[in-house]
Amino acid sequence: MKTAVLIGFMGAGKTTVGHELAELLGLPLIDTDKEIIRRTGQTPGEIFATAGEASFRELEYTVLRDVIHKGGVIATGGGIVETPGNIQLLSEAGVPVYYLSGSFGQTLERLADDDTRPILRTKTLLEVAALWRSRLPKYDAAATTTVQTDGKTPRDIARLIQIAF
Ligand code: S3P
Repeated sequence: MKTAVLIGFMGAGKTTVGHELAELLGLPLIDTDKEIIRRTGQTPGEIFATAGEASFRELEYTVLRDVIHKGGVIATGGGIVETPGNIQLLSEAGVPVYYLSGSFGQTLERLADDDTRPILRTKTLLEVAALWRSRLPKYDAAATTTVQTDGKTPRDIARLIQIAF
């Protein structure tokens, strides 16, 4: 079964686009955050609060390693590129990695009033902007294709990826 991986910052639309893309390609959707919840019974927020971010990143790595060869559309968490092992898993698997890239402004709009993401809960706007800046080159390096998302619907984005797939 074929695999397509979606990466990008929180609020980039990875899960929503993932649903659309999985439908268009006739592949199952695997969401790494949901898989972590299924395995641990805890949300990312709860894991960050109790075990800490490092434990979450270990779980995230284990999940990616387990699912990367299964086939399907894999919607990752925004911090997947923070773990060098994940970048290595992606490049060794040789699967297409689509970076959903939007402007900081539009991403923030999508994240407005979000209180489920632990990283947003603990950071000021300036810190989120710094995180954004530090991650952009990592998404660029991990991606095989960059998809500009501003002004496009999730369906449009999924169609663009379907054409490139
Ligand atoms: C994170 C993004 C989240 C989730 C966790 C950490 C991050 O996923 O994995 O809260 O570090 O950017 P989304 O990108 O789906 O929000």
